[in-house]
Amino acid sequence: MAKEHAKFGAAAYKKETDKLPGVFPREMGPKTMEYLREIVESGLTSNIISRFEAELARMHGRRFCIGAPGCTQALFATMLGMDFEPGDEIIASPIGDYGCTAGMHFCNYVPVFADAEPGTALISARTIEPLITDRTRAILCVHMLGLPCDMDPIIALARRHNLVIIEDVCQAILSTYKGRLAGTMGDVACFSFDSEKTCPGDVGGATITDDEALRERIYNRAIARGAYMEPGFGRVHSFQGFATRMPLCSAATVLANLELLPDHVARRRRTATMLDDLLREIPGIIPYEVPADRTHHYWMYGFSIDPAQFRCSADEFAAQVDSEGIAGAGVARYYLLPASISFLRENVESGRYPFCCPPSSRTWDYTADSCPNARDFLETWIRWTWTEKYEERHVGIMRDIIGRVAERNRA
Ligand SMILES: Cc1ncc(COP(=O)(O)O)c(C=O)c1O
Repeated sequence: MAKEHAKFGAAAYKKETDKLPGVFPREMGPKTMEYLREIVESGLTSNIISRFEAELARMHGRRFCIGAPGCTQALFATMLGMDFEPGDEIIASPIGDYGCTAGMHFCNYVPVFADAEPGTALISARTIEPLITDRTRAILCVHMLGLPCDMDPIIALARRHNLVIIEDVCQAILSTYKGRLAGTMGDVACFSFDSEKTCPGDVGGATITDDEALRERIYNRAIARGAYMEPGFGRVHSFQGFATRMPLCSAATVLANLELLPDHVARRRRTATMLDDLLREIPGIIPYEVPADRTHHYWMYGFSIDPAQFRCSADEFAAQVDSEGIAGAGVARYYLLPASISFLRENVESGRYPFCCPPSSRTWDYTADSCPNARDFLETWIRWTWTEKYEERHVGIMRDIIGRVAERNRA
């Protein structure tokens, strides 16, 4: 039987139910049509990409921004900009999206997954430090779900070992850590403006940095295909570059939607924290903890269940929550990257490049058990994508659904 392909955008989402609004259709910024018309009327000469890049950089107080067709490509572009050697290691979050590490694989860097802190989806200095070797070059911090990692100890650790910090801000745009914006704490940060993200384009992504030399390498290698102009000759490709330019129409929709973003994040935060408070009153339901030094963006909402308090599994609990009206509620084991990226395991087993080239004393373990905290967290954690469309009355409906399912299955 033919295998089913992964779905994207609206097709990947369940529709709204009679109880709750769905993530799609998305609200579009008031200037979307004006910007799209500008592209058509300019005969494709509009500078909308530069304006989008300038705006994202301005919002984050960064000097440079390079647009991309998605965060997968923004991270790929960032990897192209790193002058690491094949076989060099990048310590990465174990809970994330395939796009987090895809660029590393294409550059033949080796992802090394640090475990999450218990009960969370985030890596920490404590879980990263034991993995640092003489081949480690960078740390990829994914601010997963919308909550930033505990960055100060990670920054101190990176400085001690001369490591680059890359932030993945796809789910956490405008979240803060000790008052600093996600994406402004490392050397470079990547964003997604995918249609399901809080600031949607049809697709879209970007990299921001203050490092001019890095910006130049990323631009040359990821946008200009590694080519410089040679007088009297033309393009000379001095690097195995690529062409991951952001489409004009994506830049137009994302720029227009950036205008809505602060309000959308505030609305998400208001309703999600209301639900946190209500769920805390249900025995056996554990809302995701937000440390006092951070703000959570709530791209995704989730809570854990205490398995000892229920007769059913987390999967059955989630299926009942979904069928009662919170469409899309589910357990997401596939977020565990060392388990879901099966070709890494196969490449290790067959000794395929670059796994044959780092020091042979290292053994590479790409299994669920390599990150037990992350694995255990995902076993009892139930999540769905949050939306700025939720209002107070929807929060009450969600609380009632979860409460009903909890009482029905109580041990
Ligand atoms: C944390 C994270 N990183 C990377 C990506 C990849 O982003 P894109 O879909 O824009 O390529 C996603 C998308 O879901 C994500 O959530």
